[in-house]
Amino acid sequence: MSYAIQLLPFDISFDCEEEETILDAALRQGINLRYGCKHGGCGSCKAQIAEGEVDVGEASTFALMDYEQNQGLALLCSAYPLSDVAIELADDYEEAELRSGVPIREFEAGVEALAPLTHDIWQLRLALRKPSSMTFEAGQYVEIQVPGTDSWRAFSMSNAPSDEGRVELMIKLLPGGLFSGFLSERLAVGDALKLRGPFGRFVLAETEAPIIMVAGGAGLAPIAAMLRALAERNSQRSITFFYGARTTRDLFWLEELEALAGQLESFEFIPALSEPGAADVWDGEVGLVTEVVDRRCEKLRAAEAYLCGPPAMIDAAIEVLRAKGLFSARIRYDKFVSTED
Ligand SMILES: Cc1cc2nc3c(=O)[nH]c(=O)nc-3n(C[C@H](O)[C@H](O)[C@H](O)COP(=O)(O)OP(=O)(O)OC[C@H]3O[C@@H](n4cnc5c(N)ncnc54)[C@H](O)[C@@H]3O)c2cc1C
Ligand code: FES
Repeated sequence: MSYAIQLLPFDISFDCEEEETILDAALRQGINLRYGCKHGGCGSCKAQIAEGEVDVGEASTFALMDYEQNQGLALLCSAYPLSDVAIELADDYEEAELRSGVPIREFEAGVEALAPLTHDIWQLRLALRKPSSMTFEAGQYVEIQVPGTDSWRAFSMSNAPSDEGRVELMIKLLPGGLFSGFLSERLAVGDALKLRGPFGRFVLAETEAPIIMVAGGAGLAPIAAMLRALAERNSQRSITFFYGARTTRDLFWLEELEALAGQLESFEFIPALSEPGAADVWDGEVGLVTEVVDRRCEKLRAAEAYLCGPPAMIDAAIEVLRAKGLFSARIRYDKFVSTED
């Protein structure tokens, strides 16, 4: 059975099956509602239920407080309709934004290559088999089904959107990680994987503003896609990329960044080591990457920022950037939250 979901105050409605969340139904039909973690943990998809009934599902009590639930708020990534539903969206939504989504599709893919990039980050390159190409924007991500389970994991594309027959990923190996463990121990070239996407709103704004990028760990993946896309379109924008790693053995993709520096009009790469050891031969920046951003950047009012990696790094970077005059609306980010948390 399906229910009709209406988005107020716009003339937009869509169907939602009773066993799918309202957010999943919207994304499946190309309706670009806002979201973050997609599992009830961040509150980005919170909205007012104006009419009808929903089952609020498994929302974290931090993301949706009891009093908010009593006021009729729900997390659309966790809410299932129990009747036709009308949703009152936040005032700053625009109809064009809602209609700008690409419908989410499922894909079958084959493993084309997999190899370590560092001691704990691997590259995985997939060739799309069915359908054989995906339209996506640099910065977006896919979800991969962990073979033999019902679990899905989110990973950002590092290839440019022009490479539409492939999905290239940078994946951190986590202790006990369901997918990353499978990747490093069992996955082989030629194996089949199921994925769905493209998801995410962490994409480049169509402006000419100077760009500040800050990433840590596998957070390099969507930044790599953005840099590749900017290079392909001969962007003249000024780009400064701060990358945080613990030691030199955590640095990777350096040759590719050097090649991109040759293609981009104005690109500076500033790596920072937070815990250089005695064995590290290093004359670059030392400290947390956010401290280095603080030291190296002047006033940033006219810039745009793109942040990606561990949530704590992103929260700290937002604080530094805002103190330098950057408005929140000009800061875009993807927090690499774990599915299990
Ligand atoms: C929008 C988005 C995009 C993402 N893109 C990427 C990407 O491009 N590359 C990438 O590697 N990840 C990315 N992530 C994060 C990734 O989806 C999660 O980390 C995912 O849970 C990994 O799946 P797994 O099966 O390997 O580990 P899981 O089985 O999900 O997790 C294993 C355990 O590891 C723990 N854990 C989490 N972080 C750490 C850590 N730093 N050290 C030790 N333990 C830890 C967790 O608490 C969990 O208990 C993204 C997340 C989001 C939301
Ligand atoms: S996207 Fe719904 S709570 Fe994070």
